[in-house]
Amino acid sequence: MEHISDDAIASYGAGALGLGILVLGVIYAIRGRVRIQPGRANKTVPRWTPFERVLHWYVAILFIVLAVTGGGLLFGRMTVIPAVGQEAFTAWAGLAVLTHKLLGPAFVAGVLVMIVLWMGNNIPARYDWEFFKQGGGFVTGKYPPAGKVNAGDKLFVYWLGLVITGTIVCATGLILEFPDYGQSAETMQLSGTLHLIGALAWMLIILGHTYLGSLGVEGAFEAMICGRVDVNFAKQHHDMWAEELMQMGVAPQSSQALKETNDDA
Ligand code: HEM
Repeated sequence: MEHISDDAIASYGAGALGLGILVLGVIYAIRGRVRIQPGRANKTVPRWTPFERVLHWYVAILFIVLAVTGGGLLFGRMTVIPAVGQEAFTAWAGLAVLTHKLLGPAFVAGVLVMIVLWMGNNIPARYDWEFFKQGGGFVTGKYPPAGKVNAGDKLFVYWLGLVITGTIVCATGLILEFPDYGQSAETMQLSGTLHLIGALAWMLIILGHTYLGSLGVEGAFEAMICGRVDVNFAKQHHDMWAEELMQMGVAPQSSQALKETNDDA
């Protein structure tokens, strides 16, 4: 296999990430924030447990630190050396490599737990196809059926992101970090290339996920912060799941009642 240079990967990667940010900016400018359409009901239902939230932010924070240290090394030679000089870059690179290697295995462990914990939420359902056919309701404003996790998140964030790209990035990362298991030079080189391409592809997916989970969709961020969502958010974006909760007898609690319960505790 002809070897692709790291510089070529860095150039394409920077281009793709730049384009991704531009596209999200244009989407935000045109579409604005997706609002909870009837407004908030001010009643909430439980969505993510404390363990799930801690796990999510553990993985997300490590992802950012690994992206900054790994990306700093990949893009650094082009961008940082001209700005700060070779000596300062060498000092930063030493620290970045150390941090990246130290946190890499901790990140792999988090990703594995996430894959196992959330597999059940991400099994394709019959109605998921409808979600794609209707473009996720993003343009029409009419929301297609969705379970606890919508079809877009199932495909991009879970299966393509965590399971496929995540496995490639984590496995190659471990091969590179522990080279004393008889790996050939070719294996090391191929792992290096796949690690970079996989990491850049994953960053692109997470860029979109971060946008939709914060600025892009009203009511999403608080789900991963306090674990509950407004009932109208649940009905708009996850109607099948909202229905399931009702059938299970999960009663929505008013935000005020919740506040009082917490104050009493
Ligand atoms: C750093 C910025 C990030 C933000 C702001 C963010 C935000 C969110 C939010 C708000 C949710 C819940 C959405 C809802 O309940 O409807 C969520 C779910 C999720 N996030 Fe993130 N996230 C970030 C990074 C990450 C990273 C780095 C990963 C994985 C590497 C990740 C993987 C997931 C997964 C798997 C889910 C559950 C959806 C599913 O099961 O497919 N997130 N995120």
